[in-house]
Amino acid sequence: MSTNLPVGDRFTTEQLVTRRALFQVAGVTLVGTVVLASTGCASAVGAMGAPMFPHADTGAISPQTVAGVPVGTLGGGTKPIFVAPPGNLDPVVHSVADTLFWGEQLMEHAMFFAMLMPGPELAGPRGEAESFQRQFEQHLTRLRGSRLDRTSYAAFNNSTLALTNAIIDYKQRMELAQTAGRMRSLVWPTFFSHTRNEAIRFRGRLAQLNQGNANFDRREVVPFWADKMEEHALFVSHLLDPAEKTLKGAAETAAASFDKLEDAPVGSKDPAMAAVQQIINFKVAAERGIQAGQIKSIIHPALADHVRREAVRFKDELIRAV
Ligand SMILES: [Fe+2]
Ligand SMILES: [Fe+2]
Repeated sequence: MSTNLPVGDRFTTEQLVTRRALFQVAGVTLVGTVVLASTGCASAVGAMGAPMFPHADTGAISPQTVAGVPVGTLGGGTKPIFVAPPGNLDPVVHSVADTLFWGEQLMEHAMFFAMLMPGPELAGPRGEAESFQRQFEQHLTRLRGSRLDRTSYAAFNNSTLALTNAIIDYKQRMELAQTAGRMRSLVWPTFFSHTRNEAIRFRGRLAQLNQGNANFDRREVVPFWADKMEEHALFVSHLLDPAEKTLKGAAETAAASFDKLEDAPVGSKDPAMAAVQQIINFKVAAERGIQAGQIKSIIHPALADHVRREAVRFKDELIRAV
């Protein structure tokens, strides 16, 4: 191995082989790994081209009953992803499935905020976040213990809307405080706005379901989720260890592709479907690598699974969208 490299770029052959093996264990096959191993130069990573991620199958929807109605779940991670049964357009069923899905996501948003608000000076906002976490957990327990039908689902949705409105308000207040420098948490303003937009979207969905309409409109589904997938990829890029140049590059490439998709939704489903499958593959590989301690990052495994579930949900909505 050359010793002319700067100190920071020196690797032994053994280190390079080990590094390559770790990427493979994490499910990431790097194009041109031979180049990396033979040159022994860290800067070669950037010249290798895009990494390829193995196909992650989201599987079939498995049926179950919650709140007296048939719903379904997609798996593959630490928590089930609730969806309506295929082809189902019943607003009661979709209300239950969407509340199970988004209730879990909004509960986790509060959990992430609490994790990222350390120390006594942030006890106030952290306490509010922990309170939302408990309230969403209790709300989901209430949903599981109830029986909803056409006469009662709108009232339950209204109780969900009240809680959702409260967390939307909290996210807005926190974003403004963080942006203005009145609060010094570890939550980016963009993370507050991202999660607020998800809650606002859920609020709109519940209002639509209360009107009896369970359709997904492709003109809404693609721009909404493309924007969220772009931001997830940027979050991943920013939370990876600076040494993870290849994965950071892959995350930034994914963000750029969703930025294009968001700006110009196309008439065919294919480009969006191909893009969402790619981001699912990337997120599954990243989640496995993070859980196994094979990727250097400050990404909590719960956050990796959270964004993976949202990508799978995007794919499910895209299949249903008209
Ligand atoms: Fe989320
Ligand atoms: Fe998200």
